[in-house]
Amino acid sequence: MMRRIHHVGVVVNRLADGYRFYRDVLGLPLLREAELPDQGVRAALLGAGESELELLEPLGSSTPVGRFLERRGEGLHHLCFETADVTASLASLKARQVELIDAVPRRGLAGDIAFLHPRACSGVLVELATPVDDIRHSPPAPLRLKRLVIGARDVKQTTSVFQSLFGFTEVAMNDGPRTMLAVGRGALLVVPAEEVGGTEGLVAVSLVAGDFASLTAALKRAGAPRLEGTGEVTVEPAATHGVHLHVSRYE
Ligand code: CO
Repeated sequence: MMRRIHHVGVVVNRLADGYRFYRDVLGLPLLREAELPDQGVRAALLGAGESELELLEPLGSSTPVGRFLERRGEGLHHLCFETADVTASLASLKARQVELIDAVPRRGLAGDIAFLHPRACSGVLVELATPVDDIRHSPPAPLRLKRLVIGARDVKQTTSVFQSLFGFTEVAMNDGPRTMLAVGRGALLVVPAEEVGGTEGLVAVSLVAGDFASLTAALKRAGAPRLEGTGEVTVEPAATHGVHLHVSRYE
């Protein structure tokens, strides 16, 4: 039912500052930007392989995103799955008494969109989108979204919620406390909240770099605080507008 992770949404104080890191340092191409008064944001989509990264700047402090920014600061806000027919997806969720924010789709940056209530998805704010036009992904992004990490009080329960609502299949992993669900070419990694500082909900983003050496050089030039290993780098939230960001050399 869900084709891919369409995007992951990040709240920033100002889009221009977000561009300085995500577009200018990481090199993600800016695909579109628009003001969405009904959602109280100015939003932008940047390409990241099969998926996109959405930056959200609140239009005022009394908007939902403005209140989020005041309460939590910049950082991960929601994830979005692409569905072929958002109206049909909503109807089937509604028939199962799943708690929704939007009973009917509205027009957003990603197409026709609707939000589920975070209570329905183990504390994760989930958006569904059916694109209404093709966004041209050229030039191709130098980074590809590999997976999103979700912190859970009960990993098995959160996994089964996402499986039952969206039909995702579990990816075999070594026995352990974590589980992985495939979503298109991407994945959701569910980890115990205690592994991620007690945080429940969206906690981190993993990307793959086609040219890892260029990426690490760009991070160095920008002076981005980071932890560098041989095949991966973790960029600290101070540089990424509140996002725990891992970039690896390999798939
Ligand atoms: Co969104």
